[in-house]
Amino acid sequence: MNEGIDETKRNFLKLMVTASVVAGAGLSLGVVVKSLSPPQAGINSFPTLKLVDSSGNPVLTSSLPTNDPSAMQFSYPLQSTPNFLLSIGDSNGTPVNIGATQVSIPATGATYQSYSGVGKNGSVVAYSAICQHLGCIFPELRFYPAGVESITLGGKTYTGVLHCLCHGSTYDPEKGCSVLTGPTTHPLPMIKLVWDSSTDELYVSNMVGPTIYGRASDLTGETPISGTTTEVTNLGNPFTA
Ligand code: FES
Repeated sequence: MNEGIDETKRNFLKLMVTASVVAGAGLSLGVVVKSLSPPQAGINSFPTLKLVDSSGNPVLTSSLPTNDPSAMQFSYPLQSTPNFLLSIGDSNGTPVNIGATQVSIPATGATYQSYSGVGKNGSVVAYSAICQHLGCIFPELRFYPAGVESITLGGKTYTGVLHCLCHGSTYDPEKGCSVLTGPTTHPLPMIKLVWDSSTDELYVSNMVGPTIYGRASDLTGETPISGTTTEVTNLGNPFTA
């Protein structure tokens, strides 16, 4: 009889222990599931973001040296999609007013209109910093300012270009980063800059051109940028590093 009572007690205790384990496991599982939830993987439209430095201060166009090969890089429209901010000059270092132009995509024959440069001299532009051939980035993809750096390809010397050392693609940043030399068959996507002439501050608000290399769309597949700013980081001069 006593053995029967003890057995009943044991079974009750087992039941209670099992219930606590299940409840605990359920709680832990909930935490794990939450922590494994995929991050936000995109946005619905191009945001407008102010360009700022590492201290959060606005980047002013007057602070951008013309024809500087140092990579001024910022993310847009998502966290893992880098771009270059350039102030373009001629071989004498005089800022060049960059006009909107028709750019063609050799791969498809499609065309589109690039954006004009901004700033007091209309010389500031921004492009995707991911090569459209196979996705190389800085320092392989770099700016060769006119009269400062040059590259000779097939007996022809190019200066004032963006060039990728991985396989030799060259882009013309005065013409919407149209293709000068392959193997790329796509221009670099261009970022729309908006300049506030009263403050000299810069904003980014859109893109034009082919889809960013490696993306199904410009707005999906990566984590969004939080807040209303995106930081410009000087990655240094690739020719002297
Ligand atoms: S990845 Fe740039 S040329 Fe191939």
